[in-house]
Amino acid sequence: MRLAQLGHGYWGRNLLRVFSRVKGAQLILCCDSQPEAREAAQAAVPGLEVCERPEQVFERDDIDGVIIATPARDHFGQTGAALRAGKHVLVEKPLALTGDEAEELVDLADSSGLTLMVGHTFLYNDAVRWVRDFIDRGELGEIYYAYFQRLNLGRVRQDVNALWNLAPHDISIAQYWFSEIPSDVRGHGVSFIQPGIDDVSFVNLFYPSGRFAHIHVSWLDPSKTRRAVVVGSKKMVLYDDTSPDAKIVVYDKGIDRRHPPDAEQFDSFAQFQLLHRAGDVWIPRIGFREPLQVEAQHFVDCVTRGERPLTDGKSGLDVVRILTAAQG
Ligand SMILES: NC(=O)c1ccc[n+]([C@@H]2O[C@H](COP(=O)([O-])OP(=O)(O)OC[C@H]3O[C@@H](n4cnc5c(N)ncnc54)[C@H](O)[C@@H]3O)[C@@H](O)[C@H]2O)c1
Repeated sequence: MRLAQLGHGYWGRNLLRVFSRVKGAQLILCCDSQPEAREAAQAAVPGLEVCERPEQVFERDDIDGVIIATPARDHFGQTGAALRAGKHVLVEKPLALTGDEAEELVDLADSSGLTLMVGHTFLYNDAVRWVRDFIDRGELGEIYYAYFQRLNLGRVRQDVNALWNLAPHDISIAQYWFSEIPSDVRGHGVSFIQPGIDDVSFVNLFYPSGRFAHIHVSWLDPSKTRRAVVVGSKKMVLYDDTSPDAKIVVYDKGIDRRHPPDAEQFDSFAQFQLLHRAGDVWIPRIGFREPLQVEAQHFVDCVTRGERPLTDGKSGLDVVRILTAAQG
């Protein structure tokens, strides 16, 4: 299997590195419109071919799959062109900038029997997967709510706002943990630095089951924060992606409602007692694999075996629809 990559910027450099190490595929061509980016790609992977225009990738018969790491505005056009040229595609998040565009790409991939995968990297993170497994085993009990914070100072973009740049990660994690599509989405963003490009966004997701999630993203914040908290009826979990040795902390804490044994003697306001439960706090051991390396190998394996990726086009479409609703 032979691969080509479009875009060798900030994120493309990481993709080129992991794809030059995958098993079962060879990255042979990198396309970038900037000469410095092409030179950097050749310096990173000796023998790599480079080109300037995406059409030079699509027209080649010896390329089976394309990795797209260009700015978000180009994803729809380039993904469509790659699929129409018969190539499997791994495209960076977001899949597209409207729900209609994303849906068109999903239909195109399905009708042509090609793999379409979206780079929702955090779903290849072992800590995020650990939480999903913990939820599935019922360890948290009934899930009440979750909140996510993805904050930092910098990497201010001019092509998309903080919501479209940062929230795809948290929305994809919420989708994965909750296995449920929100029935109502409310978002509010504010711009300070560039007119019309929000620097900070707050999003509320309401789920049919009664669960709730809140997402706060910003590139105008004093410190790097990447954390999520999930509160369940039995336990609570903190996921801190920036922690070197405690990415997950489980709190055996909660508030239980208990009827007193002689409840019938009480008035209605005292029919039950609220009992604080403050048990153990523990840090599970989670081995580290580089999420992007896992993601790259998953793409190659899915194409080779004809399997649907965890972050397939449909999951990318769900994320785009939620972003669109949050944008208002
Ligand atoms: N999964 C993640 O964690 C993660 C992290 C960062 C960025 N990203 C995504 O990666 C994508 C790229 O982001 P970035 O930060 O690397 O941007 P960037 O601007 O640093 O890099 C984009 C590169 O694409 C090239 N390019 C632009 N238009 C082109 C065209 N038409 N043909 C060929 N080359 C072209 C540019 O010259 C540049 O080198 C975005 O979609 C972003 O959302 C994902």
